[in-house]
Amino acid sequence: MTNKARFITLEGSEGAGKTTALKTIKKILNKWGVDYICTREPGGEPNAEKIREILLHSEHLHAKTELLLMFAARNEHIQNVIKPNLAKGVWVVSDRFVDASYAYQGGGRKLGQGVVKWMDDFIVGDVQADLTVLMDIAPEIGLERIKSRGQADRIEQEGLDFFHRITQSYRDKAKLNPSKYAIIDASKSFKIVKQSIISAFESKKQELMP
Ligand SMILES: Nc1ncnc2c1ncn2[C@@H]1O[C@H](COP(=O)(O)OP(=O)(O)O)[C@@H](O)[C@H]1O
Ligand SMILES: [Mg+2]
Repeated sequence: MTNKARFITLEGSEGAGKTTALKTIKKILNKWGVDYICTREPGGEPNAEKIREILLHSEHLHAKTELLLMFAARNEHIQNVIKPNLAKGVWVVSDRFVDASYAYQGGGRKLGQGVVKWMDDFIVGDVQADLTVLMDIAPEIGLERIKSRGQADRIEQEGLDFFHRITQSYRDKAKLNPSKYAIIDASKSFKIVKQSIISAFESKKQELMP
């Protein structure tokens, strides 16, 4: 009997080290002998990638439009990528998922957590992550790290207050269901962050692969 496929999400604000953390997570899952795919949001499949373009590179978008487009893209991603893979026993690792909407649209854009929860129930339902790795970092440090990345996208151009609300919303969300989270102090060195991720996965292994 094979183990149930798991859904793992990576969250955190700009420059927290999500993409870097993904490399460590891949190594861990390879070692565990797990069959998995890596994907990302917004995007992860053709329609959702088109919506990503609108989200990140439009001149202006109303906050509510941003929320609706995020969940529109997420629905395509869930229906066409996440659900089918989990159904056939393939683990899914997503660089960002629904917590990013609580953080960015709920917190950052001040739409509130209630409306995001409503969309979460409507669109995501029971396709919730088994484990969310939250790369927790002060926005000042994260933004400093990505300075050299070149042209910032529409969301990255927001002010510091916006990113403080995001960091706080991520922490608040994790507090609601702490056992589903691995909170990583992402401000530490590459080496320490990597070690923290490895330790977190080791401590969750039994639960993820009983
Ligand atoms: N622990 C770390 N210490 C210092 N720099 C880091 C660390 N983790 C990532 N970086 C660097 O910060 C930048 C952003 O990392 P990245 O993984 O792309 O973040 P994200 O995907 O969360 O935006 C990259 O240049 C990366 O090399
Ligand atoms: Mg990234």
